[in-house]
This record gives sequence, structure tokens and C-alpha cells, in this order.
Amino acid sequence: MSDSNFEPTSSAPNTPDDVSLRPPAFSEFHGQEKIKERLILMVEAAQQRDDVLEHVLLSGPPGLGKTTLANIISGATGTQLHTTSGPQIEKAGDLAGVLTNVQKGDILFIDEIHRLHPAVEEYLYPAMEDFRLDIIIDSGPSARSIQLSLPKFTLVGATTRAGMLTAPLRSRFGLVNRLDYYTREQLSVIIVRSAGLLDISIKPDGAQEIASRSRGTPRIANNLLRWVRDFAQVRGDGIIDGDTAVKALAMIDIDNDGLDEMDVRILEAMIYKFNGGPVGLSSVAVAVGEDASTLEEVHEPFLIMQGFIKRTPRGRVAMPAAYKKIGATPTKAQGELL
Ligand SMILES: Nc1ncnc2c1ncn2[C@@H]1O[C@H](COP(=O)(O)OP(=O)(O)OP(=O)(O)O)[C@@H](O)[C@H]1O
Ligand SMILES: [Mg+2]
Repeated sequence: MSDSNFEPTSSAPNTPDDVSLRPPAFSEFHGQEKIKERLILMVEAAQQRDDVLEHVLLSGPPGLGKTTLANIISGATGTQLHTTSGPQIEKAGDLAGVLTNVQKGDILFIDEIHRLHPAVEEYLYPAMEDFRLDIIIDSGPSARSIQLSLPKFTLVGATTRAGMLTAPLRSRFGLVNRLDYYTREQLSVIIVRSAGLLDISIKPDGAQEIASRSRGTPRIANNLLRWVRDFAQVRGDGIIDGDTAVKALAMIDIDNDGLDEMDVRILEAMIYKFNGGPVGLSSVAVAVGEDASTLEEVHEPFLIMQGFIKRTPRGRVAMPAAYKKIGATPTKAQGELL
């Protein structure tokens, strides 16, 4: 792989619109209060000691702000951010390539850290703990290991699948943070902020309507905002109010709980094909024609949070809210199970 992947970047690749909406500092990052408070404290403590920040793990569903926080941490510490991702580091040499570019105090951001190759992970342990790399050169009888000492750096890892991280890797992070879905009120504030940056006129009820259909996710909120802006521009007077937002979102089949087409298909499959469950995630995945890991990372956490499905030791079960949503009546047996 080429070295250019490890050039310092100020943010992960994104559309220009998206980058401009990324809050650049903690003060503009709304929500995730507990995590923010911890991170701010850590930064302050490290600065007081003139020390390097502990390694930080950020986990949670897509679009909640992991990459954004990595950028903010680097800004707050005034250090360079080097961005890479688990699948990009194919072998120990790639890791050495990244680490030898890092200066004291810099942030190395590894996205999708759960997808690190196990062999690479082994090399990361001493790098994280003792800031050294043990590299094996040659093979067979002439193989020997050389030690490279590294500047003290901070690893910020991001993952949508915290459960897939190995225990040794997880234990090497000083702080483990799980990002939660945002509330409707928090998303409203984020939408109003984004509207300001994009020069969109929006009324509070417009922001609320978009917020309640954004699956608790700022990235989705920003995307829906852009869509509603287009709609208001062509079909209305350019101003987003509640009524415009409802019409615009109905046009793209977003229902009033923010469920998308796949969410609804999952509920339908569970109820009609699997009798409401308990059913294994992989069986549902086959039934709806979606990848099991997407189901587990993207759809399931939201459906659980909203009370549509429940995880039990025997599999996933559709809850009364799911029956109501798709207009089905639980059979007697299902009713007893619930
Ligand atoms: N707290 C927030 N306040 C305002 N905007 C936010 C916030 N969190 C995220 N965003 C917006 O949502 C977008 C998505 O966030 P980000 O890219 O950080 O998510 P992520 O958790 O890294 O997602 P993925 O797992 O897909 O990489 C950002 O571009 C930013 O505009
Ligand atoms: Mg990201």
C-alpha cells in the first residue's frame, strides 16, 4: 500500500457539504454531554501536565459523531491528526509506515478499528503501551527482531462494533466511550445550526419534524435537512416550516418514527415470516436480503432503542410496537410470548 494514505488529514473523506457542517470544536458539538465532559477533562489534564493524551476509543452506530470528535480532540490539543482505518493497514509494515510519520502528541485516528488484521493488532499492543514497535526482519534462521522507539502519541479508535474488539485491544484504551442516539431536542438544535451554516430559513416546528424522523442520527438529520430545503425551494417559498417538512419527508417515504424502508421490512419479516420470533439475526438478514452486519450495526440498535424489537437469549423478538407499526395483530401464542 502507498504511504499517501497516511498523510495527515484534517478530517476523514466526506462531501464538501458534510465537512462544512462538522462542528470544529467541543463548544459547537451538541449532545453526548458525558463523553464531551470526559474528553474536555482529559485534554485539560494532559495539558496541565504537559503530557500526551491517553488513548481513546469511540464506539457507536454510524453518523453519531465519532470522526467529528476525533477531529475536535486533535484541534483541542493543537496536534496533527493522522487518519487511517482498520482495513487499510494490511500488514505490520503499513503500521510502521503510519507510526514513523507521527510526532510527539499527535493523534492517530484508526477508523473501523474492529477490522484490524489480527497480525497487525499484535504489533499495535506494544506501540500503544510502551511506544515501541518490534519488527521482525527476514524469515527463517536469519529472522531477527528490531525495536523501533516511537514518539508518545494518542490513538483514537472508532468502531461501530465495540463487541468485535478483542479484549487485549480494548483494555489498552484509557477511556472507552459509547456514543448514544441523540434526542429529538438535541437533533433540533443541530438542524438549526446546520441550517444557519447552509443559509437555510427554518422555523422551530420545521426543525422538530425533521429531528423526529432522523433516527437519532445527526448525519441523517443533515441529509434530510438538505432534501427538505430543496423541496421548500421548488414547492414552497423556500422557508422550512413543520408543514413543508412533513410533506417533503413523506415524498421520500420516511415515516413519522424515522423508520426507513429496510427497518419496516425487517419488522414485517420478523412478524410475517418468523411469527414474531424469537429469530436469529442471520435468518432475518437472509429474509430481507441485507447483510447481517449492516442489520446488526445500523438497523437493530435503532429498532431496539425505539422499542420495536427486543434481544433475548433465544433470538430477536418483535414487540407490540412493531405489530402496531405495520398494522398486524399478534396471534394468541405471540401475545403470550410478549
Ligand atoms: N454532535 C454533533 N453536532 C453537530 N453535528 C454533528 C454532531 N455529530 C455529528 N454531526 C454531523 O454528522 C456528520 C456525521 O458525523 P461523523 O462523521 O462524525 O460520524 P461517525 O460516527 O464518524 O460515523 P461513521 O461510523 O459512519 O464513520 C458530521 O459530518 C457532522 O456534520
Ligand atoms: Mg466516521
